[in-house]
Amino acid sequence: MSSTAPPAPAPKAAAKAPKHAKRPLPPGAEPDDHIFVDQLVKRYGETQVLRGITMHLKRRQTAVVIGGSGAGKTTLLRLLIALEKPTSGHIWVDGEDLAPLGEVELNRARQKFGMVFQYAALLDSLDIFDNVAFPLREHKKHLGKRGIRDKVLEMLKLLGLEGKEHRMPSELSGGQRKRVGLARALMLEPEILIYDEPTSGLDPITSRMVDDLIEETRDRFKVTSVVISHDMTSTFRIAHQAFLLVQGQVIASGKPDELARGDNETARQFIAASGVAPDQISRVDREAADGSAKTSYKAM
Ligand SMILES: Nc1ncnc2c1ncn2[C@@H]1O[C@H](COP(=O)(O)OP(=O)(O)OP(=O)(O)O)[C@@H](O)[C@H]1O
Ligand SMILES: [Mg+2]
Repeated sequence: MSSTAPPAPAPKAAAKAPKHAKRPLPPGAEPDDHIFVDQLVKRYGETQVLRGITMHLKRRQTAVVIGGSGAGKTTLLRLLIALEKPTSGHIWVDGEDLAPLGEVELNRARQKFGMVFQYAALLDSLDIFDNVAFPLREHKKHLGKRGIRDKVLEMLKLLGLEGKEHRMPSELSGGQRKRVGLARALMLEPEILIYDEPTSGLDPITSRMVDDLIEETRDRFKVTSVVISHDMTSTFRIAHQAFLLVQGQVIASGKPDELARGDNETARQFIAASGVAPDQISRVDREAADGSAKTSYKAM
């Protein structure tokens, strides 16, 4: 019998499964979670800075963490990118718990994250090319001089910075510096981009361009974005989900207009105090009708 049976179909190559599908869902996680923050606590001595935070950060969406000064936003960010360990609780990235990882495994896990620092944090003594090449020279030496050069020039072109490679950071506008910071963060092809206060200190027009840049980048590079922000206008434009942090706790989460109009009095007051009129701001929608990415980095 077995000789006449058709050959069994070759098993589908495991390599074809998306990377994130490898692990089972942690308890409490949802299937489209890219990052699942589970009962996260951070204490420094007697001071409890994060007091049991739970967040579902969805794959390829933009999550914005808002909250007043001292609420714990930067602390949360430092834990997310595994610069610090939680006192208790867990951060699951693609179903992998970061908490028990040792230094070598953490370095691997950190490569999933790209960080776009406040004010771009470029190295002032290096030109644009060398700033953007920096992570490749650190982590991808095997590409060689030529390979690194090609990747840097390609990224500068993608971000509308063609021909700027020999300029110094001081010779660029604020918006251009942001794009250089973004180019540098993208060099190691992260799955998750974290932006620390991306619009702070920028005028409204440049802020709007940075919002567009964040959403265009999410579509073009298929990343999940996590944004720490004080800027409610920006939050309304880019957030699929906003999380309001107050004294180390997420006291409200949801779409920004749900927070603005929902039952949570503190959230309503926080948004009202920012002076933003939710009716006048709508999300930047970059998804083309056919689902393809729209990538038009504008001059700024
Ligand atoms: N290493 C530390 N040791 C002790 N306390 C700390 C430490 N880091 C932060 N804190 C405290 O934790 C609280 C939250 O700080 P954090 O920097 O996370 O706030 P934030 O929301 O980023 O504020 P801001 O909007 O002003 O940047 C503050 O009260 C701060 O003093
Ligand atoms: Mg901070």
